[in-house]
Amino acid sequence: MSEQEQRLIHGQWSSRMAFILAASGSAIGLGNIWKFPYLVGENGGGAFVLIYMLCVVMLGVPIMMAETLLGRKGRRSPVNTLLNLARQAGAGRLWGQVGWLGVVAGFLILSYYSVIAGWSLAYIFKMSSGFMNQVDAEKARTAFLALQGSPELQFIWHSLFMIATVSIVSRGVNRGLEAATRYLMPLLFIMILALDLFALGSEGAGQGLSFLFKPDFSRLSGESLMIALGQAFFSLGLGMGAIMMYGSYLPDGVSITRASLIVAGADTLIALLAGVAIFPIVFTHHLAPGMGPGLIFETLPIAFGKMPAGHLFGTIFFVLVFFAAITSAIALIEPTVAWLYENRGMSRESASLWSGLACWLVGLGTIQSFSDPLHWRIGDKSLFEWLDFVTAELMLPIGGILIAVFAGWVLSAETTAGELALGSRYRLWRFAIRYLAPLGVGLILLRGVGGM
Ligand code: PHE
Repeated sequence: MSEQEQRLIHGQWSSRMAFILAASGSAIGLGNIWKFPYLVGENGGGAFVLIYMLCVVMLGVPIMMAETLLGRKGRRSPVNTLLNLARQAGAGRLWGQVGWLGVVAGFLILSYYSVIAGWSLAYIFKMSSGFMNQVDAEKARTAFLALQGSPELQFIWHSLFMIATVSIVSRGVNRGLEAATRYLMPLLFIMILALDLFALGSEGAGQGLSFLFKPDFSRLSGESLMIALGQAFFSLGLGMGAIMMYGSYLPDGVSITRASLIVAGADTLIALLAGVAIFPIVFTHHLAPGMGPGLIFETLPIAFGKMPAGHLFGTIFFVLVFFAAITSAIALIEPTVAWLYENRGMSRESASLWSGLACWLVGLGTIQSFSDPLHWRIGDKSLFEWLDFVTAELMLPIGGILIAVFAGWVLSAETTAGELALGSRYRLWRFAIRYLAPLGVGLILLRGVGGM
């Protein structure tokens, strides 16, 4: 039997490319196209973008390497991987709780992620029906508010998205999906580039670009730092075991460093290009950059409406966004499913079905908080904002600190050096993972929580 065949039987990825595809599928999603632009808009532009990029390079990449490495060493679901590795290293069982934190974070994120993914499903139909042809800013806004204000419509789209996710996850990591990612991701990239070209030709291009790339630190609020950090974790898909999960299928001998750099690079590039597509439209039409979660839904249809064959491109674009969202959704729910499957003796099908159902139920709360924002508030935040805050800004970064401490302090240097095969640059990673990541993330969290 060839080595290749053996790997397939043991459930490993066929190649490094397959891992990169799956990890980028998990990283690239609504975080890049929907969330990054609206957070940039709400947090004053360029300075936020700069801080975000620093977080990705200095904290995100070393933690991504650590998470992949843990997965490859442990070769189980995150909870069991951490338990096993902790046992081998003579550390306590408490480390299994880190896996748990990830399971819960992924589950909660998916509950609202599915609602937003439902919006993009709705937009596939809004675009293809020609309803958005030639829309102006006001009509685009009315159309979005009609969707956001309707619990019934959001219920339907959220349910459809969750059904799609469950039906894919219940079949297991599948080759069809791998093949689809290979073609659809580059297509998404090309579509965004086309939108960029269109946006750059518009009146507000200069203003849009300087908003995005010219740092003005006076517009950065105290909380922004924490939001940028949380977004780095969210967008890279870090801190909850998703990458650990995929790392567990990664063949030995593949360079974790190169794979992490490629995934983080592609993820960041797509987010920036999405920003380049959106802000010129915002300024051309005198819209408010800080309008919040509706930003891409209120701006992109205006651009599509003006393009030749715009309804066709708009339709394709939202199909691709849906696809990017579903490959992330799979990563979000996979640790829960894997845990139920490994520890509770459930079949893959019922593990997927039950976790999907529970997630769908929690999502109904998010729908209510969008359609009836006045009643679904606790303190100064809506339910959606709370879920997002607790998961993206607290749980993922805390998960990240714990993963860094585990890889840097619990595992021996021989173990990690052997896995990473970095040569002399290993010391740089080890410094980042032992000191920079735990302290950097920790300080930002303390400041953010303290200053609230
Ligand atoms: N990274 C995904 C996105 O940007 C979301 C995600 C978060 C996926 C955490 C997995 C884990 O859309």
